[in-house]
Amino acid sequence: MSTAVLGLQWGDEGKGKITHLLAKDARVIVRFNGGANAGHTVIDRGVKFGTHLIPAGAFYPDTLSILSSGMVIDFAVLCDEWQSLSKHLGWSPQLLIAENAHVVLPYHRLQEDLEGSGKHFGTTRRGIAPCYRDKAAKRGLRAGDLLYPDIALSRLQASVDLLKQAWPSDSDVQQLDAKDLLDDLMKQAGPLLPFVGDATSAMMDAFENEEDILFEGAQGTLLDVDHGSYPFVTSSSTTFAGLSNSIGIPSPDVADRLGVFKAYMTRVGAGPFPTRVDGEVEERLRSVGGEFGVTTGRPRDCGWLDLVALKYAVRLNGCTSLAITKLDVLSGFGDIKVCPAYRLEGEAISQFPLSAEILERCEPEYASISGWDDDISQVRDLSDMPAAVMEYIAFIEREVGVPITLVSVGPEPEATMWRA
Ligand code: IMP
Repeated sequence: MSTAVLGLQWGDEGKGKITHLLAKDARVIVRFNGGANAGHTVIDRGVKFGTHLIPAGAFYPDTLSILSSGMVIDFAVLCDEWQSLSKHLGWSPQLLIAENAHVVLPYHRLQEDLEGSGKHFGTTRRGIAPCYRDKAAKRGLRAGDLLYPDIALSRLQASVDLLKQAWPSDSDVQQLDAKDLLDDLMKQAGPLLPFVGDATSAMMDAFENEEDILFEGAQGTLLDVDHGSYPFVTSSSTTFAGLSNSIGIPSPDVADRLGVFKAYMTRVGAGPFPTRVDGEVEERLRSVGGEFGVTTGRPRDCGWLDLVALKYAVRLNGCTSLAITKLDVLSGFGDIKVCPAYRLEGEAISQFPLSAEILERCEPEYASISGWDDDISQVRDLSDMPAAVMEYIAFIEREVGVPITLVSVGPEPEATMWRA
């Protein structure tokens, strides 16, 4: 049976831990969007490991980890990650890098800085938007081009020429040299080039052979370039619809669409966040929850669970089941707030607005739920869970209308419980 793991908030929902856990029963693991802007934290064999590009399947032998065409690949990051993971595991993970995935180049990061997107949109400054922009503008470099250095060089040359015209007085841009860029890239990508190939055919074969495939989303639904809080979004499709396009298979047979959400809410970078709290409550959520970016180290803004956004994300992805993470962080808060509706210009609304400017004007209408004081981080059986915790889970489930089948109370794989 194939499963897709999808983030339902603004990223950082704990998908890394869940995919790492589920990957051991899958044969093929596919990451379908984003690039080194993502940061997944997993605890593998007792060691904390941060990944940015390599799918979680890479932690297990006999699995194939596919980086599919919806991704943008920074080979410097990928090569480092592959080497340190190989050292940690004692063997090298098998990768398949889609030949039609685009390559992030040093000038993409440079452009992001020149355009001030880091400041304005709070991006991760990993060159993501300029790389996707080049893809749409038909002047990107794809992983498969690296197998033919003459093709890669002519593509790079064309891009460098355009950049020089666009930034005539920037010395970093004027110093760019297509041949040097290619030489550096070939050094970084060299060990990984044998992994570049036709990922779509491999996934079609896996479906035909009825293998268990696990699809791993990066970022979250509310950061989707089409369906998120535009323009404060990332540049890829983070939802199930994006998965289909990224793998090149129409209506893939993915029986379980597991949506992952945190028991509260966080956001990093810029953009509206109706249920954000401040002061002591935020400080406590941040420090207990360790809410600092894996990729950038930035402190994340924190707030209460937004049910308007959650319902929207669950419906958009057609989720069949849900995983709630970081429930342990909510211990000792007294009453817990959740937001089943917003107030917009005096009217109550329960529809998630697609424009960031409108979302900015929404005020949360909170409902209060009894909290719990017990430390639940060591609970390993749901029958030992305080009644108030189970009521919180049941309340969300009723509101959203999809079963919560996985409950996580800590970063370790053991701190995850299945719920019938
Ligand atoms: P970009 O993806 O670097 O272009 O950043 C666009 C927005 O997405 C910024 O608000 C980032 O903070 C956010 N973002 C990108 N990747 C992640 C992630 O993995 N977790 C949380 N936020 C992210």
